[in-house]
Amino acid sequence: MAEKVKKPLKEESDELLSLDYNNLTEEALGEGKGLGAADITGLKPLLSAAHKDIEARYKKGELPFMDLPVETETLKAARKLAEFGRKKFENVVVLGIGGSALGTSAVFQALRPLNHNDLTHQKRSWPRLTVCENVDPEGFGAVLEGLDLKTTFFNVISKSGTTAETMSQFMIIYDQLQRTLGRSAIKDHLLVTTDPEKGVLRKISNEMGFQTLPVPNGVGGRFSVLTAVGLAPLAMVGVNVTELLAGAAKAQEDAHKPPPMNKAYLFAGLNYLLTTEKKRSLLVFMPYADSLARVADWFGQLWNESLGKNVHLDGTPNTVAQTAVKALGVTDQHSQLQMYMEGSEEKTVCFLGVDSFRHVINIPPIFKEHEELAYLGGHNLGELLNFERLGTARALAENGRPNLTLLMPKVSPSSLGYLMQTLEVATVVSGNLYGIDPLNQPGVELGKQFTYGLLGRDGYSGFKERFSKGLASKKKYILR
Ligand code: PA5
Repeated sequence: MAEKVKKPLKEESDELLSLDYNNLTEEALGEGKGLGAADITGLKPLLSAAHKDIEARYKKGELPFMDLPVETETLKAARKLAEFGRKKFENVVVLGIGGSALGTSAVFQALRPLNHNDLTHQKRSWPRLTVCENVDPEGFGAVLEGLDLKTTFFNVISKSGTTAETMSQFMIIYDQLQRTLGRSAIKDHLLVTTDPEKGVLRKISNEMGFQTLPVPNGVGGRFSVLTAVGLAPLAMVGVNVTELLAGAAKAQEDAHKPPPMNKAYLFAGLNYLLTTEKKRSLLVFMPYADSLARVADWFGQLWNESLGKNVHLDGTPNTVAQTAVKALGVTDQHSQLQMYMEGSEEKTVCFLGVDSFRHVINIPPIFKEHEELAYLGGHNLGELLNFERLGTARALAENGRPNLTLLMPKVSPSSLGYLMQTLEVATVVSGNLYGIDPLNQPGVELGKQFTYGLLGRDGYSGFKERFSKGLASKKKYILR
């Protein structure tokens, strides 16, 4: 009969987040595979220099995202909206994309029950949330079909106020609201979150008297989850945004402290070393919790849009970067893990674990006569999930594959706030280490310009002509 096994080791879980990097070291992975003692000691001066630069930039006001956790005006506005919307609306629909959507989706999935939108009004006691990122007519059409506009609140979010996808959705919704509820009712059903001064969305909002909230100057989309971009819709669906901010404030306080005893800097530094010294150019970000799956999407955008740059700050070419990809434990143990274990060696795996889950589901001690099943009975699903994470981390290490673990004691507003702020700071630290600008995204512009040209936007006909001259439009290499 199988013995009931206690946790094989107590993981070192801090109050909000811990960073375990044992499995990145040579000691765990073997000589030449992992980071040696000298590599890790060498990080100290590198991170101290980054810290000096970043603190100086912060003091000059160049990194305003670092002050968001202690900003109170937006919190007040978000709470007010939540109070107003709770009784009045069944649905909150966010229209936004990229940094204007991913943080909200990630926090909502993590902090509301996973079946929030399917619960009855009485059980959920807050409106549902739908985040419309894509412009697929089938996806957007399906959302529209299920909505009663009378009980729906729309939050259009675009910092630039010009993003084609969000603006198209806005135009469709504005038109439908106007026809269904009449122009005067729109103000109660629409909130616009955009730049405080610039952009056509701000202009229209001012002209039409829409409710608005600002995206503060100097805060880019992927760093904006703790502005009105995230706080307003999240408060409206019952997320404890006060605690979310409190966790983020603690992370920021810690990140202002000098490295190396600083998780944001250490996370950035270790990944930088793996990329530059060990040619580990892929970071597989792998939460072991369904509630954190969208955090991997949010992180993917943060890391990739920030760190994928072909020039250094001094204009010289850059060819080094670490691409983040997402996976989900345990699901992807059964689809991708084989590649991480034995395939090409460019990967580091970052596990995101949760020490204790909000639900306990026991596996009943039945079928004891079958050795293949007897060991499962008496454990719970959270234990199974965590033992699988621990087992996978160890197996990767024994195979010489570097991995590290971010461990949350539980998924709570404060631990999530801590995690997200830590990863945002880590992104800026990484930018500093690579010598690139992590706050811009010039690489996404050209594709947009071709799209504008194809859609006939004034001033972009040159892109249409350029497109027509391209090989693709000659349809030469197409197999039908
Ligand atoms: O992180 C970013 O800056 C981008 O992903 C933007 O958030 C995204 O392109 C949407 O832009 P906007 O908010 O201007 O509509």
